[in-house]
Amino acid sequence: MADLIPLLVPRHVAIIMDGNGRWAAARGLPRVAGHREGAKAVRRTVEAAIEQGVRYLTLFAFSSENWQRPPDEVSDLTFLMKHYLRSELDEMHQQGVQLRIIGERERFGPNMTTELEAAERRTAGNSRLTLVMALSYGGRADIVAAARKAIAAGIAPEALTEENFPGFLATDGIPDPDLLIRTSGERRISNFLLWQAAYSEMLFTPVLWPDFTARDFAAALEDYATRERRFGARPV
Ligand code: FPP
Repeated sequence: MADLIPLLVPRHVAIIMDGNGRWAAARGLPRVAGHREGAKAVRRTVEAAIEQGVRYLTLFAFSSENWQRPPDEVSDLTFLMKHYLRSELDEMHQQGVQLRIIGERERFGPNMTTELEAAERRTAGNSRLTLVMALSYGGRADIVAAARKAIAAGIAPEALTEENFPGFLATDGIPDPDLLIRTSGERRISNFLLWQAAYSEMLFTPVLWPDFTARDFAAALEDYATRERRFGARPV
C-alpha cells in the first residue's frame, strides 16, 4: 500500500521544452531569438527545481531528429548549449548540481564531447540536483543501444529482465521520471524517454517554453501532487 501513496514532490521531472520557434514567430523574430529566450527559461527552471526540492531534472535539449533542421539552426542550438554550459557551470557546481548527459554526444564533435565529459567529471560528486541534459537523444536509439550493450556483455537472453535492462540504458542509476511536462500545447512524447516514462504522470501546458516561469513549474508540481499514481495496481 505504501507504494500507492504518491510522494508530494516528484523526485524526477522531465521536460520536453517546446515552442521556441512559435514564440519567435509571434514576435516577427528569427527562430534563434526563441532559442535564446529558451536558454533563459532553462536557467529559471533549474533554479526552480532546486528551490522545490526536486532531485532529478531531465531536459530534452536536442533530439536525434533535430539534426534534420537547417544547418544554421543546428549550429545556433549547438552554440547556445555550449555557451550555457560555459557560463552556468561554475554557478551550478556551487549550488550542488550534478550534470549528466544522455544521448549521442559524440555527434557534436570532439571539442564539445571533451567539454561535456569534463563538466560531468567536475560535478560528479554533487547531489542536490542531478541535471540530465538529453543531447542528440532518442528513446528508441537508447533502447537499441541498451540491447546491444546487454548482448556485448554476454548476458543470456533468459537472464535479461525488466529489472536489469534499465542498467544498460543511458539513464542507468537515475530513477524513472515521476512527472513529464511538455510545453507549447503539443501532446506527444516525441521519442523522449520511451522506456523510462512508462508510468510517468503527463502534464501538457499551452505555455511556450520561452515563457515558462518558476510559477509554471510550481503549478505543474501542484497538479502532480493531486494525482493518484497506481502503477497499474488497484488501491485496496
Ligand atoms: C523546441 O522549440 C525546442 C528545441 C528544439 C530545443 C530546446 C532548446 C533550448 C531551450 C535552447 C538552448 C538549450 C539549452 C540547454 C541552453 P521548437 O524550435 O521546436 O519550437 P516550435 O515547435 O515552436 O518551432
